[in-house]
Amino acid sequence: MTHFSTRAIHEGQEPDPATGAVSRPLHLSSTFRHDAVGQLRAGYEYTRSGNPTRSSLQDSLAGLEGGAAAYAVSSGMQAEDIVLRTFLRPGSHVLLGDDAYAGTHRLIAGILGPWGVTVDSVDLTDPDAVRAAVARKAPDLVWVETPTNPLLQVVDIAELATIAHGANALLVVDNTFATPYLQQPISLGADVVIHSLTKFLGGHSDVVGGAIVLADETHSETVYDLINSVGSGLAPFDCWLVSRGLKTLPVRMDRHEENAFAVCAALEESDLIAEVIYPGLPSHPGHEIAKAQMFGFGGMVSVRLAGGEAAARVFVESTELFTLAESLGGVESLIEHPATMTHLAAEGTPLQVPRDLVRISIGIEHKDDLVADLQAALERVRESAEAAA
Ligand SMILES: Cc1ncc(COP(=O)(O)O)c(C=O)c1O
Repeated sequence: MTHFSTRAIHEGQEPDPATGAVSRPLHLSSTFRHDAVGQLRAGYEYTRSGNPTRSSLQDSLAGLEGGAAAYAVSSGMQAEDIVLRTFLRPGSHVLLGDDAYAGTHRLIAGILGPWGVTVDSVDLTDPDAVRAAVARKAPDLVWVETPTNPLLQVVDIAELATIAHGANALLVVDNTFATPYLQQPISLGADVVIHSLTKFLGGHSDVVGGAIVLADETHSETVYDLINSVGSGLAPFDCWLVSRGLKTLPVRMDRHEENAFAVCAALEESDLIAEVIYPGLPSHPGHEIAKAQMFGFGGMVSVRLAGGEAAARVFVESTELFTLAESLGGVESLIEHPATMTHLAAEGTPLQVPRDLVRISIGIEHKDDLVADLQAALERVRESAEAAA
């Protein structure tokens, strides 16, 4: 099983040993019979502490990310919280990118701040700026997204690992946008990988979940103890849905990308679009790094509207096939205005996003239909600008 597409289907998902069922059973039981006091049949006693359906997903995730252990928890934010509370103490310092999911900054600054954790934001695409920030205040943890949400910046993970480890800091990579199919952060030096399973790994917009993957066993027990103590484990049905999603991850990602290139080509033609941002485009400043550290460029595209925020709002409200909604990574195409939706919490922080920005999650529908829908919405943008003139 050397190829990712094969492992995505079989790793952690071997037929059920008890029945031979090819699709692993869904264990909804909250508790498990003890054969005798202190004698468990398969190591499971209570679902908060462990559940076979969750174990199966965790085995898949650890295998696909090349980690020593993985934990499935109730959301991407819960995965972040568990990692931060495992590795940080009052007085700890975090270095975060200046473009990242707004919820991450809110969690570190807003929730952990009052507990004595500090955070600085820096342009992680600029290694000199990162070295200067590290020299100013040594971080305990460097938190990287790549590609970033929502500006799709590409960060050199190996370079960041060298800088972080040189300062005795851990490197955490949020691999949500790339997925393990397109990027393997642990092989590039990351200590911890986290995911919002809600996105491409689940893939069908029907589950909210998160994952923590550890490069080695050192902190595995501590992470598990926190998850078990606070009860963060992902519910069995949600685990089962993500396990099913994983099997089609490679084919979905290939189609997301094929469609993303088609959409980019069409959007680049429009005079209403000031900038098309996609790591697969040679015009993207991180294109060469993306080519070197990724196995593809993913399904997220962002654009800046020549007509500013007003045009951006009309654009996102005018599509029919692209649903105006937060989240991303599902089979269906979504569109949103980060400044007032997903990244509203970043307003007034160093992570504030441009107001003319629109983020598009390219689904796996037919590319011609996607292009036609965006082109029709751009016509509405043009009409609206003409009416206002
Ligand atoms: C890059 C990234 N990380 C983490 C999260 C948080 O994940 P969740 O919504 O599953 O809690 C998100 C959510 O949008 C995200 O985009």
